[in-house]
Amino acid sequence: MRKATVAAPANIALIKYWGAKHFDPVVPYAPSLSMTLRACRTRTTVQFDSGGTGDDEILRAQDDGTLVPTEESFRAPVVRHLDRLRAWADRSGTFRVATRNTFPSRAGLASSASGFAALTLAATRALGTSVDPTQASDLARRSGSGSAARSVFGGFVVWPRTDDVCAAQIAPAEHWDLRDLIAVVDTNPKEVSSREGHRRAPTSPFFDTRLDHLDARREAVQEALLDRDFDRLAPLVEREATELHCIAMSSRPPIHYWRPATLAVLEAVRGLRADGVAACATMDAGPNVHVLCPPDAAPSVADRLEALSDVEMLLRDGVGPGPTNDVSPLF
Ligand code: DP6
Repeated sequence: MRKATVAAPANIALIKYWGAKHFDPVVPYAPSLSMTLRACRTRTTVQFDSGGTGDDEILRAQDDGTLVPTEESFRAPVVRHLDRLRAWADRSGTFRVATRNTFPSRAGLASSASGFAALTLAATRALGTSVDPTQASDLARRSGSGSAARSVFGGFVVWPRTDDVCAAQIAPAEHWDLRDLIAVVDTNPKEVSSREGHRRAPTSPFFDTRLDHLDARREAVQEALLDRDFDRLAPLVEREATELHCIAMSSRPPIHYWRPATLAVLEAVRGLRADGVAACATMDAGPNVHVLCPPDAAPSVADRLEALSDVEMLLRDGVGPGPTNDVSPLF
């Protein structure tokens, strides 16, 4: 019996993965680029019993730390990923898995990137195998969550690298202390999954236009990051976020992730900029808004966002160093 525990972070895409050529394994139409977060993390403990013959046990930690079985919609993709890892390692046996998020589950934030990154890293260790981050990222991608491929690395990450399907770090977290204040405006689960969004994206009449200019935008974002130039980064990041939602809204059938509160936060971010505060906004496939800023702007940004009645909760995060094994087990 072997047990391993890993905490892996969520990430926020500055250039979005939206549209997959196929899903098993995930191959996107275009590379994405993200910032790995520090505070929003999933901690996962995996135990592998090579003599086990029953079903895998998939548990979730409640707020008080007690472990409870997960519902089928959570359990099924986890077990499918464990099956892949078992086959990859050529082992038979059963897993016991427990998982816990640092961010409130009622925050309505996608946790599949952190969840599948943590599961992949902990399960490969519990299987007694040793994988480097590139291999771990490739295995995480096989979960079906492309963004999990990026959460295996810290700092600023691109996936795929231009020459293959693996993810790679373009700069470590210490390169630039960017903050991410996450304005949570709606805590309901999204009506249309990212996976369905990836499937529908090519039906937008604007999808090919997006692909035509995306490489140039990604290179410009990468250069602005490497130069630590927030004034150059901010408009590129906002244009990219708006474009993801234009593709979603114009795909067939259309997908509307924004809520009126999303627009209220975007308006507040424009107001901050008009007042000379460096800030820019980005949204993944949902209504919540990630407001990025340099450290000295963070207090003003937080004050302005917390004053909005539309903001249910504000999570204070920022760029982080990536997964760690230095955490206590959940069982
Ligand atoms: C909009 O297929 O990785 O966040 O199922 O939420 O993990 P999850 O999504 P995934 O697609 C991510 C879509 C995105 C953009 C991005 O993170 O690149």
